[in-house]
Amino acid sequence: MKVGSVLVSREEISARLAELGEQITVDYAGKDLLLVAVLKGAFMVMADLAREIKLAVDIDFMAVSSYGHATQTSGVVRILKDLDSEIAGRHILIVEDIIDSGLTLDYIRRNLEVRQPASLEIATLLLKKGIQRVPIHVKYVGFEIPPDFVIGYGLDLYGKMRNLPHVAVMVED
Ligand code: IMP
Ligand code: MG
Repeated sequence: MKVGSVLVSREEISARLAELGEQITVDYAGKDLLLVAVLKGAFMVMADLAREIKLAVDIDFMAVSSYGHATQTSGVVRILKDLDSEIAGRHILIVEDIIDSGLTLDYIRRNLEVRQPASLEIATLLLKKGIQRVPIHVKYVGFEIPPDFVIGYGLDLYGKMRNLPHVAVMVED
């Protein structure tokens, strides 16, 4: 596998995150908002989206690992790092890089809901269209993309290429 063409450019990403940030700013005005990113993939979208939200938000991180093949989700999730913050009664927005099967996020969402936040919504930069294996409500979507494996802007292949400033598809050599 090698890096193929650009799927979403850095200009497209930053323009779209500005729009989402503006929308989030309106939707959460006057509320206590905690942004929760799932490491490691979402570190870049968290950094850029947070700067587009014109509210005094808190940020926190979770790390999970899914067992199984590197390019496919098994749906079995282990929490490697939990939130530092209590979330009961607070408005939580999960910030994700990509939703594929949706299994990881479904697990995280159910795990956080037990802690009784005031609200719990999801923002994702990328949503692979039509391949979710569980029904999942995503309030803020950056881009709907085809179900191909992509890398860059936080997304990795075997840990590498997260630092690409755009999203690219992987192609066969
Ligand atoms: P899901 O549980 O199938 O929705 O995917 C969970 C995680 O798999 C995502 O948060 C990413 O970390 C990773 N992932 C899914 N699709 C891709 C991809 O196309 N490239 C890189 N990582 C991906
Ligand atoms: Mg991820």
